[in-house]
Amino acid sequence: MLSKKMEKALNAQVGAEMFSSNLYLAMALDFEAKNLKGFGHWLRVQAKEEMGHAMRIVDHLLERGARAVVPALDAPPAAWKSPQAAFDQVLAHEIKVTGMINDLVDLAAAEKDHATGAFLQWFVNEQVEEEAQSVEIVETLKMIGESKGQLFMLNHQLGKREG
Ligand SMILES: [Fe+2]
Ligand SMILES: [Fe+2]
Repeated sequence: MLSKKMEKALNAQVGAEMFSSNLYLAMALDFEAKNLKGFGHWLRVQAKEEMGHAMRIVDHLLERGARAVVPALDAPPAAWKSPQAAFDQVLAHEIKVTGMINDLVDLAAAEKDHATGAFLQWFVNEQVEEEAQSVEIVETLKMIGESKGQLFMLNHQLGKREG
């Protein structure tokens, strides 16, 4: 069984992952409205992954005999002033989520909930990957600067993301 404290914290993380999903979908729709469909595609794939993260936690809660609840979510912004602004926010958001995952790992250790600690290791590794991929796009956008030609090349490349 999960402690009530762990159950509450994991449910809060379900909400955080669902918010991530909505944030990236909102960004995708903004890019698509601005005819940058490759960026939109990449962010739609990311939004799906985030919903997958939420479901992974839901499944862990159920497997441990706890309740999972669908939380209220804040609305994400609808528009960003530039691709750089959007991906700066992706990176900042992923760094924030990494901190939340680390806090959950700390809580699992404090509660001596080794099963949840082991479960969370997947997320620890996933955050390393997500931060790295966000940094790469942020840095590429910085190099691109005002070059429309290079922006369209990146758009094309991001449009090829499979999973
Ligand atoms: Fe996530
Ligand atoms: Fe993420």
